[in-house]
Amino acid sequence: MKLSSPLIEIERATVYRGDTCVFTDFSLSLQEGEHVAILGPNGAGKSTFLKLLAGEVHPVPNDETSIRLFGEERWNVWDVRKRLGMVSHDLQHQYMEKVTGLKVVLSGYYASIGTYGHQDFTYAQIACAHVVMEELGIGFLTDRRYGEMSTGEQRRCLLGRALVHDPIALVLDEPTSGLDLTATFHYLDLVRAHMQKGKTLLLVTHHIHEIPPEVERVLLLKQGKILQDGEKRAVLTEASLSQLFDCQVVLAQANGWYQALPG
Ligand SMILES: Nc1ncnc2c1ncn2[C@@H]1O[C@H](COP(=O)(O)OP(=O)(O)O)[C@@H](O)[C@H]1O
Ligand SMILES: [Mg+2]
Repeated sequence: MKLSSPLIEIERATVYRGDTCVFTDFSLSLQEGEHVAILGPNGAGKSTFLKLLAGEVHPVPNDETSIRLFGEERWNVWDVRKRLGMVSHDLQHQYMEKVTGLKVVLSGYYASIGTYGHQDFTYAQIACAHVVMEELGIGFLTDRRYGEMSTGEQRRCLLGRALVHDPIALVLDEPTSGLDLTATFHYLDLVRAHMQKGKTLLLVTHHIHEIPPEVERVLLLKQGKILQDGEKRAVLTEASLSQLFDCQVVLAQANGWYQALPG
């Protein structure tokens, strides 16, 4: 696997959401093939960071600021959205209740919400959507309306939507929140299978238990600042997590997974 291609290079970005300054002089670079988790409490700026990548929010223009994605300074938002397969919780709520599973997956080709009459799909695209759905074990949801699926089923359809155009990286925002234990384990298994097939994972979350064992690098983000960035074993400690979440944390570990418990 290539380790040298840059996926994301952000230099000195200042980003506002409304009147809130989320990032000041923020820099970060991630490489293709490097599985990364960005961990932080609510409000740390995790979703804003992903919106910056998706071109939904922009840094304050400044000569010292640059954002390069896939090594390119000037990128087309639609191209990037196809190369980064994004799944977020926001997205799940935006879906129309009546859209079928197949259409949810197909909508990934347009990086859009749902599908619309003017969008044409080729036979190859439709065949590919069916293959992805079979791989994710959601073939039975092809004709089921989104509003009539369980949360776990909806989440797997959105994963299919992210995977259908064969992105370089999977970008997940709190992927298992709201899922029960079975659905969580199932979802993480599917994500790991795609990591093993070569997709780079970029995960942002406050759930320590959803960091797959394959993730090697962890960043701790608090109030728009990176508190720590390094090898997972070095970063995930009781002291650093207690500082990150402003409470006493005891850390449990098993088979490469971590779980935070009250201290
Ligand atoms: N649309 C918005 N308008 C104003 N402030 C916002 C908006 N969205 C997020 N924020 C603020 O930006 C900060 C970072 O939010 P967010 O990136 O959603 O954090 P996280 O995903 O880590 O929970 C928070 O202080 C939040 O209140
Ligand atoms: Mg968020």
